[in-house]
Amino acid sequence: MSDNIIVQDEGAVRVVRISRPEKKNALTSDMYTALAAALDSANADSAVRCTLIAGVPGAFTAGNDLADFMKAATQGAGLARPAHVFLKALVNNNKPLLAAVQGVAVGVGTTMLLHCDFVTAGTDAKFSTPFVALGLLPEAGSSLLAPRLMGHPRAFALLVMGRKLDATQAQACGLVNDVVAPEEADAHALKAAQDIAALPPEAVALSRRLMRGSVDDVAARIDEEARLFGERLKSPEAHAAFAAFLNRKR
Ligand code: COA
Repeated sequence: MSDNIIVQDEGAVRVVRISRPEKKNALTSDMYTALAAALDSANADSAVRCTLIAGVPGAFTAGNDLADFMKAATQGAGLARPAHVFLKALVNNNKPLLAAVQGVAVGVGTTMLLHCDFVTAGTDAKFSTPFVALGLLPEAGSSLLAPRLMGHPRAFALLVMGRKLDATQAQACGLVNDVVAPEEADAHALKAAQDIAALPPEAVALSRRLMRGSVDDVAARIDEEARLFGERLKSPEAHAAFAAFLNRKR
């Protein structure tokens, strides 16, 4: 378990809060494990109708903890298994998944949204995936899902060029449903979750399954990305980028 992932059921809505504000909610292995467990247990619990992932003011998440990436780079370990398990839990999750994004959503903070059914963003939200600048490559099935959602040119600018999206741009790309004041993001998302939870659950589940189609290709892409990502983590390019962040002078 991780103290940085707080799981609380609000009626039929499972609220999973990422809370490591001092590190902008950067995700450690323990946090990935707790996130995956929260999704998996929601799947198995008929009292839970949908799941909402939220962060803290100013940070949805700054993505993978770069100190963990550095360890992987220097110890030659590749992508940590808990991260991979979380990504698979996103694909296998069978309840509607919502997100409330305030502040930074970096790396997996943006790519996990591609697995969500409804995303609320605060006006302060900033979406970015600096994978390639870090010597890495897109993960979480984003190399498949982002071009499908927003078209290749916009996905390329986001995933390869590392161009950031603000809340309005993310909405225009189809990544975000609603943009609200930052302090209203959580309540707005919870209301949307409660609206979903009030619908007939079997009809919701069938509709969602039809709309998502087979997820085998997404699962296979996550595996392929993870294999290449693990190789890239050990590359001199990635090592230099992690060291530059961890040793930056401020
Ligand atoms: N891994 C580890 N620590 C991180 C982190 C990450 N991904 N993101 C932020 N932190 C830490 C910072 O090192 C800092 O810790 P310190 O106070 O002990 O030095 C703290 O969180 C606050 O971050 P800071 O950079 O001061 O906040 P900011 O508001 O100026 O910038 C970000 C926020 C997210 C834009 C910036 O921290 C950043 O670029 N982080 C790296 C994001 C990243 O590359 N993630 C991996 C994607 S694959």
